[in-house]
Amino acid sequence: MKYVVGNWKMYPRSEREARTIFSGIKKASAKVTHAKVVLCPPHLFVSPLLSLARSGRVILGAQNSSHADEGALTGETSPYALSRIGAKYVIAGHSERRGMGETNEDVAKKISAIAKNGMTAILCVGERERDPGGAYFTEVKEQLRASLSGFPSTLTRRLIIAYEPIWAIGVKAKKPAEPGDFREMSILIKRQLVESFGKKAGFSVPILYGGSVDDLNAEGFLTEGKADGFLVGRASLDVKKFSTIIAITERIA
Ligand code: PGA
Repeated sequence: MKYVVGNWKMYPRSEREARTIFSGIKKASAKVTHAKVVLCPPHLFVSPLLSLARSGRVILGAQNSSHADEGALTGETSPYALSRIGAKYVIAGHSERRGMGETNEDVAKKISAIAKNGMTAILCVGERERDPGGAYFTEVKEQLRASLSGFPSTLTRRLIIAYEPIWAIGVKAKKPAEPGDFREMSILIKRQLVESFGKKAGFSVPILYGGSVDDLNAEGFLTEGKADGFLVGRASLDVKKFSTIIAITERIA
């Protein structure tokens, strides 16, 4: 199974627009069977989009959650509540949230809470930059090891890793990553997963690529990079581009 996950970030501004984009993607996904299409809108729109999601193939997720099911945590969102309203996936440890102060320890608590609530955690890891000495390999390995700390090995079926090199994310990206960059890193990630959870569970965790994925570069990451799918930012708000990414993934899956 391959995954095409859209991370809408803090877009769009209105529910109306969210419905329009969602409906377009729903239409494009109607016949998709080999790829799982997941959209993670801002929290405010998860509930309103559920009625649209009920009849199609698009699955709803969220972009973040608290580590606790309830508590005196102003402004946080309960993973328990998210699961009850119907969210199936939650992104955790996105670099933009890590940039706001989220630590590996916070992320580790969140992914366990997400999985214990029956949802799938999409754990993001990725280096800030690539140094010629290759220290970025150790950086990602350590980030992954620490973020997985305490995650029950019995729940690895509710875990997905998204490798997102920070230098390749967003409009400020210096250059997109190459499929070979992903391939190399996914081997290291797999090795850490096996170290954390054992061979069988470690090998079963999907590894997605994220960072300036679009309709033009998606194919290479699947064929040459052997990615299990994508975490898409900007292009997931563009119905045409995202639909093409879905179609490519469905064809290659
Ligand atoms: P991008 O964002 O596709 O716009 O580079 C990816 C992400 O941040 O998940």
